[in-house]
Amino acid sequence: MPDIGPDLAQKSLGDFAESFEQTLLKLMPEPEGMEGQVNDAMRYALMAGGKRLRPFLVTVAASLFSIEPKAAARVAAAVECIHTYSLIHDDLPAMDDDDMRRGLPSVHRKFDEATAVLAGDALLTLAFEILADKETHPDAEIRCELVSKLSAAIGVHGMVGGQMIDLKAENQSLNQMEIKRMQHMKTGALIVFSCETGAILAKVTDERRNALTGYAQDIGLAFQIVDDLLDVEGSSENIGKTAGKDVEAGKATLVSLMGVEEARKTADELVESSVRHLHVFDEKADILRSLAAFVFHRAH
Ligand code: IPE
Ligand code: IPE
Ligand code: MG
Ligand code: MG
Ligand code: MG
Repeated sequence: MPDIGPDLAQKSLGDFAESFEQTLLKLMPEPEGMEGQVNDAMRYALMAGGKRLRPFLVTVAASLFSIEPKAAARVAAAVECIHTYSLIHDDLPAMDDDDMRRGLPSVHRKFDEATAVLAGDALLTLAFEILADKETHPDAEIRCELVSKLSAAIGVHGMVGGQMIDLKAENQSLNQMEIKRMQHMKTGALIVFSCETGAILAKVTDERRNALTGYAQDIGLAFQIVDDLLDVEGSSENIGKTAGKDVEAGKATLVSLMGVEEARKTADELVESSVRHLHVFDEKADILRSLAAFVFHRAH
């Protein structure tokens, strides 16, 4: 475990989550006309809460390079739009078929399946609209790098590819390496992008960028292992989504492969290794160190 416990990050994340809602609301289109329903569904999903871990990572990483808060806030919002889109689609009957998300009926239950597909599509598109806008950064080269790195993180070699493997692997046995690769793709890649944005916005390509991506790769994998542990050990009430779904669906996870104790140990080792990457940063990175502990200890 890192020397710094989870409390610092937990408190800052809670404060951040509250103020971040306003940032999100300002960037949402107004619901009007016959298309208003898709807008309602986007707002419903985005405003349902959530830990806001990825936008927090964007904000903290940006603060290491003294990036203008407005730029970081817009990038953070784009990342949360992508994450929320992925959850809406992940819950669809054709995917994980989950009726509950963030403690509320999932979007296809609250609205309908077509609206959920479209709300996901619209959030995905909105993210790129936000990143490509001059308001995000005056330097077109930086905007292009944000757009291309995000595309790579969430496309077929990243999140979407990982989600495909996740579904194909139901009731199929994957080995440890294959499961880790899938989890890096479906969950890790967006977490890595979130941390890297600080360096992208600062046009920094030295060892500080590698430190951030190395850290993020480790916590990304640890984050998904803990998600899989919570699916087994948590209650639906606490985790805000239906517990026990992974076993029911026959998902390939490190928990199903090696059992709860070994999986927890693997997550613990990853968290330890994540903070080692951060030695190039001084105490300004303490929140990241604390966040690694939070990822391990989180209860939802
Ligand atoms: C859930 O992500 C999906 C995974 C990639 C494991 P989070 O646990 O960050 O979900 P919210 O945003 O807090 O609801
Ligand atoms: C989801 O993984 C990863 C995504 C890219 C959305 P899970 O299917 O385990 O996420 P939950 O448990 O439904 O939040
Ligand atoms: Mg899934
Ligand atoms: Mg799921
Ligand atoms: Mg899960």
